[in-house]
Amino acid sequence: MNLTLKIWRQKNADDKGKMVDYKINDISPDMSFLEMLDVLNEELISKGESPVAFDHDCREGICGSCSLFINGRAHGPDRYITTCQLHMRSFKDGDTINIEPFRATAFPVIKDLIVDRSSFDRVQQAGGFISVNTSGNTIDANTIPVNKHDADDAFSAATCIGCGACVAACKNASAMLFVGAKVSQFALLPQGQVEATDRVLNMVNQMDEEKFGNCTNTGACEVECPKGISLENIARMNREYLAANVKS
Ligand code: SF4
Ligand code: FES
Repeated sequence: MNLTLKIWRQKNADDKGKMVDYKINDISPDMSFLEMLDVLNEELISKGESPVAFDHDCREGICGSCSLFINGRAHGPDRYITTCQLHMRSFKDGDTINIEPFRATAFPVIKDLIVDRSSFDRVQQAGGFISVNTSGNTIDANTIPVNKHDADDAFSAATCIGCGACVAACKNASAMLFVGAKVSQFALLPQGQVEATDRVLNMVNQMDEEKFGNCTNTGACEVECPKGISLENIARMNREYLAANVKS
């Protein structure tokens, strides 16, 4: 396949940045999207040019680091996959592909296609944990009965990989699907009840401090989420937040 790539190039956080065109030839349809970018980078390096900076780690859809906006879609055209799981067979010979970083005030660009998603880390640190008694009286988790429906929903919420596609897809740059998933995975389980009130208040407050936008129920986040995290998690977070405000 021969392709034209239009890629966002930005030297550093202060640089204005711009789209730059690249021609790339003889790309196999069986290559992953990131392998195609690897080929481009090898060509750029051999010509003495700066390679395109992009985030990646596991390349298996697990770590959530490969955050690219491809032809106007977070993680590209296919549903329920991350950028690293996208293959070139999803494109046609002769295509022009636009590649940009995830855009949000809370995700400032560091370089080229890499954004700073430490705002997500700070939301997690504000409450995305449980305290466990490890003083010698620890109760075996398997001895605590959990309703099957709740266990399944908690597990589904816990599959969020923190990629940020929900934020990038949302016209308001809202992080409510991410925060909803992180609140829900504990709110549904007995182990998560001890800090439940503080958790939702602290995580939502941190989300606001990081300047993520509000949810206006467009549902773009759910459509673009590679893990199929449901909007039900936002509704649950809102219920938890209301209840916590009444209690506190
Ligand atoms: S909710 Fe989905 S899109 Fe958002 S961070 Fe989690 S896995 Fe990524
Ligand atoms: S590189 Fe880990 S999810 Fe894509």
